[in-house]
Amino acid sequence: MSQSKTTAAISAVGGFVPKKILSNYDLEKMVDTTDEWIKTRTGIEERRILDIPGEGTSYLGTKAVENLLHKTNLDPKEIDLIICTTVTGDYLFPATANIISHNVGATNAFSFDIGAACSGFLYGVRTASSFLEAGTYKKVIVVGADKMSAIVDYSNRNNCIIFGDGAGAVLMEPNKEGFGVQDSVLYTDGIGKEYLLQPAGGSVKPPSVESIKNREHFIYQDGKTVFKFAVTKMAEASAEVMRKNKLTGEDINYLLAHQANKRIIDATRDRMGIDESKVLMNIQRYGNTTSGTIPLLMWDFEKKLKKGDNLILSAFGGGFTWGSIYLKWLYNS
Ligand code: UT7
Repeated sequence: MSQSKTTAAISAVGGFVPKKILSNYDLEKMVDTTDEWIKTRTGIEERRILDIPGEGTSYLGTKAVENLLHKTNLDPKEIDLIICTTVTGDYLFPATANIISHNVGATNAFSFDIGAACSGFLYGVRTASSFLEAGTYKKVIVVGADKMSAIVDYSNRNNCIIFGDGAGAVLMEPNKEGFGVQDSVLYTDGIGKEYLLQPAGGSVKPPSVESIKNREHFIYQDGKTVFKFAVTKMAEASAEVMRKNKLTGEDINYLLAHQANKRIIDATRDRMGIDESKVLMNIQRYGNTTSGTIPLLMWDFEKKLKKGDNLILSAFGGGFTWGSIYLKWLYNS
């Protein structure tokens, strides 16, 4: 497969999850819930929590990028751009990507954050692809990182059961043999603000004694409505990218879906017409790590992915944001 067109391929993967495990049984002691309810309604058994005082999302992202650099022996000075996708940045500013760049010694890179909630990684990969396809840059890292425990209300059983902390990073490079990102469909609908947001802490409602008292600096989610949108939109986007590229379920090797709820992933699989064995899943161990879910799937299942495999990456999240990417895997590990 040799062609003049330049595509953007993922050439390496890194990841990091903190050591501390918060199991469903731990949550049973904190809120009125059961392991059985959580497993049946979401597929989650445990999630990881970053509990090092003074460490935020950049800690997770830095560890994931360091893991990638260690695996590839890449000199961080060769990196042109680092994109961090997150909704739990260390600060409102500066960007968490800047802190990660500094921590890993990427002194020749520029960096910025993308805030697209659970679809962040897809937005990041799509953005990186444009720079690589155009020949502007040669080595771009996309790191999806979220310390969700920083904005989760552990007295609210609707939310605290689904989220966890973690980060995954990919190196993207130009490719001349047709591997990497083939196509994408990405969407936004601002109506989502009504149903999933962190109400206080931004410029509309700066933190105040009152906002803290009202617990408005924690995630607000109307789970039922978000679920309905997610089930429909993630499946639609996956079907659309397949239709656009004349792919049937047979042509797909693996679905890497945002790990928010196993029932949403099952609905997407159903719509795509693919077998359960083609769905990569680690929701049971990490829960919903927001920007981290899809790169963490790549990290966990890297050995399973083979050169030339057709992958569909799909996500739905706050905003609302959603979409799907069709990607041809570059390497055997
Ligand atoms: O990541 C990006 C976007 N986020 C998502 O994609 C999440 C989408 N939403 C969901 O995954 C689900 O809506 C949740 C997992 C958050 C909730 O599951 P659900 O099946 O939609 O539950 P529900 O909110 O419809 O509640 C059903 C029942 C209610 O009781 P009643 O009114 O039927 O008596 C809730 O009070 O379950 C109750 N409930 C719980 N019971 C035990 C809600 N949360 C819990 C809980 N433990 N943790």
